[in-house]
Amino acid sequence: MRIILLGAPGTGKGTQGKFISEEYNIPKISTGDMLRESITLETKMSQFIQSQIKKGKLVSDKIVCDLIKNRIKKKDCSNGFLLDGFPRSIEQAYYLSESKITVDYVLNFVMSHEKILDRISGRRIHPQSGRIYHIKFNPPKINNIDDITGDSLVLREDDKTETIKNRLKEYEKITYPLKKYYLNQALKEKLQFLEIDAADSLINIKNKIKSILKNNR
Ligand code: AP5
Repeated sequence: MRIILLGAPGTGKGTQGKFISEEYNIPKISTGDMLRESITLETKMSQFIQSQIKKGKLVSDKIVCDLIKNRIKKKDCSNGFLLDGFPRSIEQAYYLSESKITVDYVLNFVMSHEKILDRISGRRIHPQSGRIYHIKFNPPKINNIDDITGDSLVLREDDKTETIKNRLKEYEKITYPLKKYYLNQALKEKLQFLEIDAADSLINIKNKIKSILKNNR
């Protein structure tokens, strides 16, 4: 099973992606996580990536398409995969289709910008595992501590209000047109395009996704 999670920053793609990955035993491939990981390498390329992320700008299509190309060649993707945050531009979607990488589901997470700011401002993450918390909606058992490892949780560098505003602008300008693109693809291919009300509770969204994917165990 191959799934794309589309949607603006902070709509819960990473949170539900982790659940889908565990429930259906397919790897979650997050270009955001991969890019943040690559920053630690301290090369010229990683400095560029870091500055784009810090500004709330998208990284170039070439860089992310290369990351995806190498990642989905790996053995764990033979049974399927979940793309979290890719594609994010029409060019990236063309890359998938030109490479004959088909997908079964595109789940589009939809929520107002006001709610997005609420969600992102309370987010805390455990970078090593990708576990995502929220101080109000999905708190850890002990304040600011990862439930499994006991490590301290951190704030993402690009979760400052000014950066979030830029990320939302980039989304509207570059990523939003993918909705129309995939609605059209759904008319031509086997692919299913479904909208998820991202303002709903964690459990309701989980159940909705389960019912969408129930025939794919
Ligand atoms: P990336 O890491 O992909 O970030 P994003 O898409 O902006 O999405 P987020 O991770 O902010 O949010 P999310 O939807 O995963 O929400 P989450 O589950 O955390 O990208 C970062 C940067 O990398 C980009 O800005 C860009 O520079 C670059 N990049 C990445 N991919 C790229 C690409 N393909 N091309 C070019 N550049 C790329 O949830 C948010 C919060 O809400 C959490 O605290 C969570 O606990 C809480 N929450 C989730 N669901 C619920 C719920 N139902 N109810 C209550 N709280 C909830």
